[in-house]
Amino acid sequence: MKSLKTNLDSNAVYLPSDTVQKKAYISSLDAYLKMYHTSIEDPIEFWKKISAQFFWKSKPTGPFLSYNFDLKKGPIFTKWMEGALTNVCYNLVDRHVQDGYGDKIAYYWEGNEPDEQKQITYQALLKEICKCANVLKALGIAKGDRVAIYMPTTIEAIVVMLSCARIGAIHTVIFTGFSADALATRIIAAKAKLLVTANGTFRGTKFIPLKSIATQALIQCKAANHPLNDCIVFNRLQTMKRREGIPDIPWDDSIDRSWETLMASASDVCEPEWMDAEDPLFILYTSGSTGKPKGVLHTSGGYLLYAATAFKYAFDYHPEDLFFCSGDLGWITGHTFNVYGALACKTTSVLFDGIPTYPDGGRFWDLIDRYKVTTFYTAPTALRTLMQLEPIYVTKYSRASLRILGSVGEPIDPSTWNWFYEIVGEKRCPIIDTFWQTETGAPIICPLPGATPLKPGAATLPFWGIVPTIVNDNGVEIIGEGQGHLVVKNPWPGIARTLDGSHERFTSTYFAPYNGYYYTGDRAKRDADGYFWIIGRTDDMLNSSGYLISTAEIESALMQHPSVAEAAAVSAPHATKGESIHCFIVLKHKWSYNHIIESEIKSIVRHKLGAFAVPDLIYPVPALPKVGSGKIMRRLLRKIVRQEVYLGDTSTLVDQSIVNQLRALTLNKVKIF
Ligand code: WT7
Repeated sequence: MKSLKTNLDSNAVYLPSDTVQKKAYISSLDAYLKMYHTSIEDPIEFWKKISAQFFWKSKPTGPFLSYNFDLKKGPIFTKWMEGALTNVCYNLVDRHVQDGYGDKIAYYWEGNEPDEQKQITYQALLKEICKCANVLKALGIAKGDRVAIYMPTTIEAIVVMLSCARIGAIHTVIFTGFSADALATRIIAAKAKLLVTANGTFRGTKFIPLKSIATQALIQCKAANHPLNDCIVFNRLQTMKRREGIPDIPWDDSIDRSWETLMASASDVCEPEWMDAEDPLFILYTSGSTGKPKGVLHTSGGYLLYAATAFKYAFDYHPEDLFFCSGDLGWITGHTFNVYGALACKTTSVLFDGIPTYPDGGRFWDLIDRYKVTTFYTAPTALRTLMQLEPIYVTKYSRASLRILGSVGEPIDPSTWNWFYEIVGEKRCPIIDTFWQTETGAPIICPLPGATPLKPGAATLPFWGIVPTIVNDNGVEIIGEGQGHLVVKNPWPGIARTLDGSHERFTSTYFAPYNGYYYTGDRAKRDADGYFWIIGRTDDMLNSSGYLISTAEIESALMQHPSVAEAAAVSAPHATKGESIHCFIVLKHKWSYNHIIESEIKSIVRHKLGAFAVPDLIYPVPALPKVGSGKIMRRLLRKIVRQEVYLGDTSTLVDQSIVNQLRALTLNKVKIF
């Protein structure tokens, strides 16, 4: 690696701050490089040492690692520590209680309303998990059975997840923003025997009728010949002061069971089921490019090691830290960082069941001050929403406890990065931009606080044991600086083992595109320092006048205009250019669109990227279509600008009504070239 001062892609390199560096496990770039090389030169020895920190009932019966990434040699597989027996829940909770940390707080939970709070110690969490495990057993759930969880971000949802892990059942958490259709599809695909839900919840002032949605989904399941016998319903509304807008909640005695009643009579002792390291731990659905969701399957031993290790190093976690990840439990971020990685490291976390803008745009910063959060992890989409507000929402809180800030989910454009760094972190806290996917289990490219010099917008360098590289369209590896498809050359413990029910789709999605490599589906560029910059999904690329342009690159430029709060770029066919560039922008409060703004925006893009990237059309719109994780559904925007009648599956959209608004707004402007 050359000197980081010769950075080509940005004018700024931020060296680790002294305070973070002094404390860090890895406190210099050299120390990082040394440990990284150890991890890739002898991965078995490296992960063996880490595995020794966890509890195993017995040793692997075969090799510590076996795998095949080469289609020519046979089926694709990865196995770590096969034959070794363990229990993930035991490692997350029992182990700490036995070590004398039973009184440590595992979670401070806060609901939608700031005065709705709970906390739970490791000891109390263990009891709740055991009770719930006994409840599941009494309902006939055994090792290998699937349990669907459709619950808000609550301690109870985590109790259900871990009680599954305790008895060897496989959970599949379904994000509460999903519709009845999407829920039913996932219950059926997972062959779930049980559904656990809540009667309802609020997101801001909006009531979310979880139970009604679940009931509709169960009707669909029955019609599809997948009847469920039991639906456990947690009374989330019991402690809520807000009552407006709560309709009647359906209840059917033949299937619905009260969480409170079942838990009240359950024993709080339950022996863990000893599981093979390669036994499934959970399935998590993620959207596939064809529209049919993919059931990403993670196993017990490898995922545990990787989630815990990534948590410890990416956030430089120390026992006195207070961790707050704003991610929902329905996404891999919530699984790995609110639950598995965090508890494995004996962490105290803040668990938040609300939205960043309720009661007002200061909610995150208020939570940070009240709980003395040291490590705050969120998504660029949330930051961009908060950035539009008056700075006072941030500055009226001290944020003095913050040490580390993290970002995940999409490329963080330099404007947002700088706002997070300068305004939120007051230049004290490194921005840990973690690149990963549902399939990777935990981050695979990210800086380490205290060690990695940062460049705004770069995911930086690989995590332990990961050998990422870039390949061209023909699968030829690009050495040194360049841009191409981001792939990984070797197996790591947290890699998904298959797609539930379709190993063929797993192989064709992740291994067939570039034989010998795990294919991320993202494009990335590697700069002269060896830093990785994630450009975006390959399906988010557009080709205009022969220039391959990332929608993220255009969006990042659009975001530089002071009026722009959010932006999305998509393409439409164009007779001479191949594709024309259509941009949707959401303006910040108090701005109204006019031709001056339009020409300024175009000039920024021209300036940042070149004339080839200047938008053909810009639509100022009230909001962008987003899925529950906050990702913009560009596929939908693409269809809208192409005036396609059939828009595909839009059931995962948070706000369905936006579709018609966007259609109407674009209709007059769109020219078919
Ligand atoms: C896709 C995976 C990982 C948890 C949440 C998303 C994009 C994720 C970053 C990042 C640039 C990122 C990629 C990836 N992505 N993190 N730090 N920088 N892009 O999980 O739903 O499986 O999505 O999210 O495109 O492939 P997911």
